[in-house]
Amino acid sequence: MSPAAEIARRRTFAIISHPDAGKTTLTEKFLLYGNAIHLAGAVKDRKNQRATASDWMELEKQRGISISSTVLQFDYNGCAVNLLDTPGHKDFSEDTYRVLTAVDAALMVIDAAKGVEAQTRKLFEVCRRRGVPIFTFMNKCDRPTMNPIALLDELESVLGLQSSPVIWPLGNGPSFKGVFDRRTREVHLFERVPGGKFQAPVNVADLNDPLVREKLDDYTFDQVREQLEMLDGAGHPFDLNAVQHGQQTPVYFGSAVNNFGIQLLLDGFLKDSVPPAPRKSVTISVPGFPQPTTAREVPVDDPKFSGFIFKIQANMDAKHRDRIAFLRICSGKFERDMVVTHQRTGKQVRLSSSHKLFGRDRETVDEAWPGDVIGLVGHSEFGIGDTLTTDRSICYDEIPRFPSEVFSYISNPNTGDAKKYRAGLEQLLQEGVVQSFNARNAPPGATLLAAVGPLQFEVVQWRLQSEYNAESKLVPAPWTLLKWAEPHPALKNPSSIVVAQGVSFGTDKFDNPIVLFPNDWTLRYFIEKNPELKLHDMPIE
Ligand code: G4P
Repeated sequence: MSPAAEIARRRTFAIISHPDAGKTTLTEKFLLYGNAIHLAGAVKDRKNQRATASDWMELEKQRGISISSTVLQFDYNGCAVNLLDTPGHKDFSEDTYRVLTAVDAALMVIDAAKGVEAQTRKLFEVCRRRGVPIFTFMNKCDRPTMNPIALLDELESVLGLQSSPVIWPLGNGPSFKGVFDRRTREVHLFERVPGGKFQAPVNVADLNDPLVREKLDDYTFDQVREQLEMLDGAGHPFDLNAVQHGQQTPVYFGSAVNNFGIQLLLDGFLKDSVPPAPRKSVTISVPGFPQPTTAREVPVDDPKFSGFIFKIQANMDAKHRDRIAFLRICSGKFERDMVVTHQRTGKQVRLSSSHKLFGRDRETVDEAWPGDVIGLVGHSEFGIGDTLTTDRSICYDEIPRFPSEVFSYISNPNTGDAKKYRAGLEQLLQEGVVQSFNARNAPPGATLLAAVGPLQFEVVQWRLQSEYNAESKLVPAPWTLLKWAEPHPALKNPSSIVVAQGVSFGTDKFDNPIVLFPNDWTLRYFIEKNPELKLHDMPIE
């Protein structure tokens, strides 16, 4: 296959949703279609254990939530699909946001009984800012749902997103009888099957077919006909260009657990979503950086290889105690053993241990194309956001940074084990599980950790214990806001600065000054009293 054809068949996406909307169930069904597993239940057989192919951490199993993002790759209908799993819990949104930098499209799963929920809104915002095409799946139609028209209204009013339904539900809850495909004008009838492990049997017919007419009660039939007339008359016509620019979302309805409407969704999504698009390379000219680069778009068919690291994970499996950097390929062809430049250090690196990952399992990758995600094993020098390339003028800056909202001091209660504790903490900080700062007046031996949500601290403790056999002690710190301060002579002696009680000072790992605030009020007071000290949400580069 030509390079152009290889790139054109790539589809790299993530599923975004509020917890419990059905993301795991949908993932499981997609894998079924991709023949990636024999029975969809293998991903998450809830009756026996809460474990999925992408849920590999013990903590995830214990809590039944998905914490770490992995990549599931499968072929379907000629497409090479990379499905990036994102953690659903709100504390892990930082990790999720990073994953979203590596995708070309997103599938938004909504519980049709609940409409647009908080976490979906946050994740949607990230996708919108990046102009990522978004496809919507209204799930759980086998249960009583909101009125489907009201669901579309919510997409418009809450998310400001124009919608165009491709698939329309015929009733909901006990009267859910199937879906209508507005493109082919065909009805797909739904039969309830216990267990939902297999594909629900489907009959295809016309809306006025006696079989359909017989299935739908008069009320549902009239309602559906009215809704469809309304959509045909006053709804937004499907606009592929708007969809591919993230301005319109095609909407599908179905039931993931019953495996109903999933094939229609997968087919429509793969057809209308975009193959890998060019990425922006930024201008970099900083002391110590190997070579100045200028801003430009790097075409996906650029023969030079390039990609960026969006996630690092160590000790994914006790069987493989090592460190994996996840690289999204942006241009050129990846070949095992190729030598690339690690842009941040300027070093030449041979990529010999590259893997395709499937939950816990891994397989050596000999070649890969733009859109693919590969796991690079070893390489302790790689960090999140780093560019690897054979063209030294390419440098990506794709990874967003997020303000921390919770803070804790971590220390080692067991001084005999200092080495393990330090090695473990250093690794987890490198992975970006949490951030660390030097706080003035920190308790002796304690490191200040900052995170977006408190569960991240638990993960640090849990991983220190299970992977490094190192105990740790966590003490909450009182701040909720962190700002970077522009360098200023007054910061050399912060006790001379007028601040409200509870405000503290420190530095980040690059020695940039930071200020820590217990709440909004103390921040406003600081700004008012110290106009000469300029604060920023991000480090000043
Ligand atoms: P998440 O990854 O987004 O958090 O959601 P997940 O797939 O784990 O689904 C959350 C719950 O919703 C699960 O129930 C799942 O079975 C159920 N669910 C998913 N899709 C549908 C659907 O189309 N219809 C209905 N009625 N339910 C659906 P659970 O109680 O957590 O697990 P289980 O014991 O039912 O398996």
